[in-house]
Amino acid sequence: MSQPMLTADTDPHRLARTLGGRNLVGGELRPSHTGRTFAVFNPATGREIGQAAHSDAGDVDDAVAVAFRAQPAWAATAARKRGALVAECARLLASHVEELGRLVALETGKALRTESRVEASVVADALQFYGGLGSELKGETVPFNPDMLTLTQREPIGVVGVIIPWNAPMMLMALKIAPALVAGNTVVVKSAEEAPLAVLRVCQILNQLLPPGVLNIVSGFGPDCGAPLVAHPQVGKVTFTGSVETGRIVARTAGEKLIPVTLELGGKSPMIVMDDADLEQAVAGAVSGMRFTRQGQSCTAASRIFVHRAIHDEFVTRLKARVDAMKMGDPLDEATDIGTIISRGQLDKVLGYIESGRAIPGAQAHECSRLPDGEALRDGLFVRPVIFTGLDNASRLAREEIFGPVTCVIAFDRYEDAIRMANDSDYGLAATFWTRDLKTALDATRRLNAGFVQVNQNIVVQPGLSYGGVKQSGLGREASLEAMLDHFTHKKTVIFNMN
Ligand code: NAI
Ligand code: MG
Repeated sequence: MSQPMLTADTDPHRLARTLGGRNLVGGELRPSHTGRTFAVFNPATGREIGQAAHSDAGDVDDAVAVAFRAQPAWAATAARKRGALVAECARLLASHVEELGRLVALETGKALRTESRVEASVVADALQFYGGLGSELKGETVPFNPDMLTLTQREPIGVVGVIIPWNAPMMLMALKIAPALVAGNTVVVKSAEEAPLAVLRVCQILNQLLPPGVLNIVSGFGPDCGAPLVAHPQVGKVTFTGSVETGRIVARTAGEKLIPVTLELGGKSPMIVMDDADLEQAVAGAVSGMRFTRQGQSCTAASRIFVHRAIHDEFVTRLKARVDAMKMGDPLDEATDIGTIISRGQLDKVLGYIESGRAIPGAQAHECSRLPDGEALRDGLFVRPVIFTGLDNASRLAREEIFGPVTCVIAFDRYEDAIRMANDSDYGLAATFWTRDLKTALDATRRLNAGFVQVNQNIVVQPGLSYGGVKQSGLGREASLEAMLDHFTHKKTVIFNMN
């Protein structure tokens, strides 16, 4: 290591000012080739906190060329050594958790205590997990012919393009870059325009240990920076998390190039609560599952809650009481449970859904918690959580991903109806089922169309567990050993003819 180690800077305002405006390519922070930048805002105040490099196809070309040149030496490094380096990155990041938590809270509006600090520690956890998997990149011997030695080996794909959104930017990036790197690929990340700073800082920290050019990151907008990354001829694989709409565009380009693509898209995840469920446990699970602390900005948010009619009213009363008790406020304040929506555009989209829901005859919008007061947060992008009742599963609010603090509680009479409604969706990312009857639970886990089904709990993606969706929720799996093997390597078959 030639340069001194970065020291953690827990003043996110200073960090945002000093860090921004640049990409990280070949181990160095550098401006975009045009020198253009764009502003990054604090959604809790509406104020600018820093700048990010406004990169275009030229910057993508540079970053991919650097990653392409660095790839053969990285692939030739022993797999366990690559893993060991990634694990060392995890330990280094662990000493930056507070700093990264504050920075991501500042740029995304996610509360520090309930969300942002947690996200920062999950990043280290994901790197730690994959760091241990270097020696699992195994092949097989195949009994093809007794006079031949036939084997398979796992080889890296080459340069991987990583496109991430803003809702959990560091965590989603970590779940992509860690397996890509351990498998021997080099990486170019395109950050989300709303949250380019904390991920840049993560990459800067990791570049203290990784060889230059192995992990690169550029910031910019979708069409002028993300699209050229997907289209670049030297990018051999793209992994994307974001909207269905953009996922289709990415898949179309990948289809033209005939390269593999992993897509983690939206969700409209059902939660089914039977009348014998532990009610208090289920209500707590609805609060955490709906990710109210993240303003519902999660692809697995429990945004359709089917509750048996016998307990429906009691469930709603208790759910409302719990969400009412949550405090909305300054994301950096330790007392805050719920921060802000990411951007004005997302805020308008969420408010639009709430308005259209109110207009539906029979629907009731239960608004919870209280907007923060005080001059400083006057322009903050706060939305009170809303629990809708009296909606039909066919309504727009129950079909489309709102990506805000809005959930629908829908009553059902029969188990069969609940399963049918839960599966009647374009999405299939996650589902949860709440009961004390394990026989019914087993049946439900078999019948629910989703990539991740949990009984009597609703936890988020965990390193080690395959994660991904069916239907419009995406293609491929993340977060596990198989995700690394299936999505970041090619399998080569080799035959030695010894006759
Ligand atoms: P988006 O899918 O447009 O953006 C995600 C990433 O893709 C960003 O880095 C963006 O710059 C990039 N991108 C946009 N257009 C691109 C293109 N043509 N080629 C390559 N990259 C491109 O999502 P957005 O606009 O931030 O949010 C819209 C909706 O998407 C949300 O309301 C939510 O419903 C959903 N969403 C789902 C997420 C998930 O975790 N599955 C995460 C973020 C958004
Ligand atoms: Mg978009």
